[in-house]
Amino acid sequence: MVTEFRVFRYSPGRGNRWQEYRVETRAGASVLEGLQTIRADLDPTLAYRFACRSSVCGSCAMLIDGQPRLACQTRIQQLKGSCIVVAPLPGLPVIKDLVVDMEPFWTAYRRVMPWLVEKTGAKDMTITKAVSDVMEKFYSCILCAACFAACPEAGGKHTYLGPMSLMEGYRLYLDPRDAAGEERRKILSGPDGVWGCHGAFACIDACPWDLAPVEFSAQLRLKLVGEKFSWLKKAFGQA
Ligand code: SF4
Ligand code: FES
Repeated sequence: MVTEFRVFRYSPGRGNRWQEYRVETRAGASVLEGLQTIRADLDPTLAYRFACRSSVCGSCAMLIDGQPRLACQTRIQQLKGSCIVVAPLPGLPVIKDLVVDMEPFWTAYRRVMPWLVEKTGAKDMTITKAVSDVMEKFYSCILCAACFAACPEAGGKHTYLGPMSLMEGYRLYLDPRDAAGEERRKILSGPDGVWGCHGAFACIDACPWDLAPVEFSAQLRLKLVGEKFSWLKKAFGQA
C-alpha cells in the first residue's frame, strides 16, 4: 500500500518548508513506521524522536493531521485523509523537523516540585482512596507533552503550568506524606496555576493514555475553594 506523507521540515538557518513523500507501508503500519521508511529508504535527513515504539516512552509525540498524537500509537489506517500531514508539537520551539525543545515542558514540571518533601517525625499515615485514585492515574502519565502542546493556555506562553504539571502538583498536594503543602498551595493557586485553565478541554483529546488532566484541575479548584471557605468560617468563628 502506498501512503502519502506531507512532513514539516525545518533546519536552523534554512527556515521551514513542507515536503511530500510517497511511502510503501504494510497493512496496520503506524505513522512512526512510515517515518522510519522515509528515513531508511527515501530521506536520511528527516529528524524525529522515538524510542520504545510501544506508547510508553512518550518521545514520539507530534502533530498528526492536526492533532497531537503518538506516532507509534497512531495507525495509518485510522486516519481519514488521502495524505498524512505530520508536524512538530505546537507551542514548543522546533530544533529540527519534528524534534522540539521540551525544556518549557520540563521547566513547568520542575516548578511544581515533582518530589515528596519528607515529613519528619510523622507516624503511620493513611492514603485515602481518592488520593490513591489520583496517584494511580498519574503514574500512567508518560510525560509526552501532548497535553501541554494542545493546551491553548500553556502552548507558546510558557508561564502557565499546563495540564500535566497541575495534575502532578495536585497529586503531591493531596499526599499526606508530603510536608510542602503550603508551598504547593501557593504554586498551584498562583497566577500561573490552576486558575489559568480556561476549560478548553484540549488535553482530553490529546492525551494518548486518556488521563483527562483537566479533571484534576477541576478537583483542585474545588479543593482550593473549599479550603478558602473553611478558613473564612474559622476567621468568623463558625467552624
Ligand atoms: S497527561 Fe497525557 S498527554 Fe499529558 S504528558 Fe501525561 S500522558 Fe502525555
Ligand atoms: S516511541 Fe515511545 S511512545 Fe512512541
